[in-house]
Amino acid sequence: MTSQQPQVIRREDYRPPDYRIEHVDLAFELGAEETTVRSRLTLRSDHERSQGIRPLVLHGEELDLRAISLDGEPLPDGAYSLDADSLTLHEPPEAFTLEIETAINPKANTQLSGLYVSNDVFCTQCEAEGFRRITYFLDRPDVMATYRTTLRAERAACPVLLSNGNLVEEGDLEGGRHYAVWEDPFRKPSYLFALVAGDLACNERVVETRSGRPVRLRIFVEHGKEGRTGYAMDVLERSLRWDEERFGLEYDLDLFNVVAVSDFNMGAMENKSLNVFNDKYILADPETATDADYAGIETVVAHEYFHNWTGNRITCRDWFQLSLKEGLTVFRDQEFSSDMRSRPVKRIQDVRRLRAAQFPEDAGPLAHPVRPDSYIEINNFYTATIYEKGAEVIRMLHGLLGEAGFQKGMKLYVERHDGQAVTCDDFVAAMADANGVDLERFKRWYGQAGTPEVQVNGCYDAQRGSYDLTVTQTTRPTPGQETKEPLHIPLAIGLLDGQGRDIPLTLGEGPASDTLVLPLCEERQSFRFEGLPKPAAVSLNRGFSAPITVRAEQSGTERAFLMAHDSDPFVRWEAGQDFATALMLEGSEAWRAGEEPSVDPAFIEATRAILTDSRLEQAFIAEALALPSEDYVAERMEVVNVEAIHAARGALKRALAEALRADFAQLYERLHDSAPYSPDAEAAGRRALRNAALSYLSVFAEAEPQERVRLIEHYRQADNMTDRMAALRLLVDLDLPERQEALDDFENRFGDDALVMDKWFALQAVSDLPDTLERVKALMQHPAFSLERPNKVRALIGSFIAANPLRYHAADGSGYAFHAALTLKLDALNPQVAARLLAPLGRWRRFDAGRQEKMKAELQRILAVPKLSRDVYEIASKALG
Ligand code: TRP
Ligand code: ZN
Repeated sequence: MTSQQPQVIRREDYRPPDYRIEHVDLAFELGAEETTVRSRLTLRSDHERSQGIRPLVLHGEELDLRAISLDGEPLPDGAYSLDADSLTLHEPPEAFTLEIETAINPKANTQLSGLYVSNDVFCTQCEAEGFRRITYFLDRPDVMATYRTTLRAERAACPVLLSNGNLVEEGDLEGGRHYAVWEDPFRKPSYLFALVAGDLACNERVVETRSGRPVRLRIFVEHGKEGRTGYAMDVLERSLRWDEERFGLEYDLDLFNVVAVSDFNMGAMENKSLNVFNDKYILADPETATDADYAGIETVVAHEYFHNWTGNRITCRDWFQLSLKEGLTVFRDQEFSSDMRSRPVKRIQDVRRLRAAQFPEDAGPLAHPVRPDSYIEINNFYTATIYEKGAEVIRMLHGLLGEAGFQKGMKLYVERHDGQAVTCDDFVAAMADANGVDLERFKRWYGQAGTPEVQVNGCYDAQRGSYDLTVTQTTRPTPGQETKEPLHIPLAIGLLDGQGRDIPLTLGEGPASDTLVLPLCEERQSFRFEGLPKPAAVSLNRGFSAPITVRAEQSGTERAFLMAHDSDPFVRWEAGQDFATALMLEGSEAWRAGEEPSVDPAFIEATRAILTDSRLEQAFIAEALALPSEDYVAERMEVVNVEAIHAARGALKRALAEALRADFAQLYERLHDSAPYSPDAEAAGRRALRNAALSYLSVFAEAEPQERVRLIEHYRQADNMTDRMAALRLLVDLDLPERQEALDDFENRFGDDALVMDKWFALQAVSDLPDTLERVKALMQHPAFSLERPNKVRALIGSFIAANPLRYHAADGSGYAFHAALTLKLDALNPQVAARLLAPLGRWRRFDAGRQEKMKAELQRILAVPKLSRDVYEIASKALG
């Protein structure tokens, strides 16, 4: 906790460290309420000392300093000073060892940063700045050292003792204690340090790297949960293989350990050879995990594994470069899943996610570039912009250079920078140098915030047989960036003829191709294509080649045509989303005017055509049937009207359900699966489509008993969590006795399973019934709920705040008041999680005057509290503007 007006950290102020730490020798005497940490640092000065000897300033937070000595001699009082977040040695020698003993209280650590206890397991989380909560240190990523770590603990409570690297020694101690010594031969920054100690079960598999070295893979979980680690283990092995095959990158140690814990601030952490996971991203079996959970496990296990090269071997110089490792590693995990599953479906899901999380960020008060210029609390910058937009920037590079060129760039990047802490510029330079291209203009993507809007106008000249495309790009101002420069946007396009075939296109001297990538570099550019028949439709941003919003005057007929014919699956899906969005915007207007909305029959027919096209993948059809979210439509409104959007979306869903009822019913029957559950992409696609059909049919459940029966029977007969959740998701919106029956049954079945209970909390929080907030408040008293457990908070409260716009934005301001009170309570326990949930309150500018006032008042109420964390202070103050 800090007082108000905390310090702003700026990228331009970066200076290399004055001292380097070459080696760290740590010894932990583990106790839940008191752990002592002895640290011996081998230091050397790294500045011009003839100009004056600079002090050594070590970071440290909430540490109890017990002893300190230099080269074996206790330090006299005058040689150092201490304050709340640092320890300063006034005039250290040129090269020396420093021994420091500190004590900490892991049990009292509710922030879950540093060393803490989760279900009796000791574990650490050091990214970004948690190591300083363990011992005094130069806790910055450009200080890289080798580590030797000794752990001592009670053998009965902690039979498993783990840290980074290789186990070099272990044995018994007196008094029922034992010890283990770990040595990590690779230099690393402190944020990659980890230890785990506890009573854990383990699943083990030995695999061979491509050069024939055996690697022991181990996944540690609570006893009794080993049976749920099989899928994660398979993913880990596939990740290892894939990184060798596609990136030529091999694992570098004999051991790779993964530990799943119940309490964790994020998804998982890539500590060198000791990944620590939120158990949500490890544990899965058909009864307790959904297809989406399996996909999430695939993503996160691969992501953390891939960090071994992109993050650990080559790390960030400073935290402004966070996307160097995160954007690149997200790109890699996306590619991995695309290679494992359906590439088009994965692309659609990734774009959906980008639009749901990153576009609003880019359009709001917390907008920041992929490489930010300043921050108050770095933990607030693990954002969709750093991760997902960062991955889009890498993907554009991949598109510009091609797979071979991109891999050439990767190879040079690794050759040049292995073992170093580097910048985003270094990465782009490797890409440019390996390919002999100039990426200077492209680099603006790293420095400029905001989502570019690209306006496209097409014009056909029948006489000349030529087609002109005029393209303009604009980016709206974002906080701190009033004026914007044009970016290098690779815009992939195609033209369709009257039969829906691609018209081959050429640009300048280039070869003819069905898809052309227009290199947009200026504010306004025109492209002419000659010798063409009249195009029936333009296909824009194929494959989502750039993270932009495209604006084009398109009629319903053109959209329906693209939905039916485009050779690019992304645009086929996109055209449907655009069409549905337009209809919902019209529907919202109609609702406000008290009129009946009308639905363009062309949309219904185009949807029917997709539904019944047997050549399409089932997972794709399911994506095409999923209407854009209420939040997505809201982004397109001048002033957001949550009730109108909710009504319009409901009306559109009902119109589709009525018109296509027979198709949905038939699909539902036909896709019934009698084979045992398998999480593979094809089976998941079949379930997704069948559950989409069920979702449309549920529209009739309130009025028609037989549809009610279908729904509750779907719940009752489900032999897997995907189907069970699908039914329950629909039931929670219905004010029927079946709702409570299913919720009670679910609680009875899974009451002992923390992860499954998270689903139960989340579903109730997203219900559109009017008493949802009251239910959420009541559920906070449920014995399975706890404010100290991030998974619970995210499931119940996070879902209400971020995924229930109708009830969160209740006109009386009750949702906002609840949010503010909760923020203050949570801030005292876990500032990272409190701050992460805060963004929706910062979106006040998008709403009507009444809501604006209420939202701002709550932000002010938060800021008026004297002992706010830096985390919440930064978000709340920036949100208020
Ligand atoms: N580096 C982690 C990842 O992307 C993110 C992470 C895990 C994290 N735990 C954290 C970031 C705690 C900030 C704070 O995989
Ligand atoms: Zn990561």
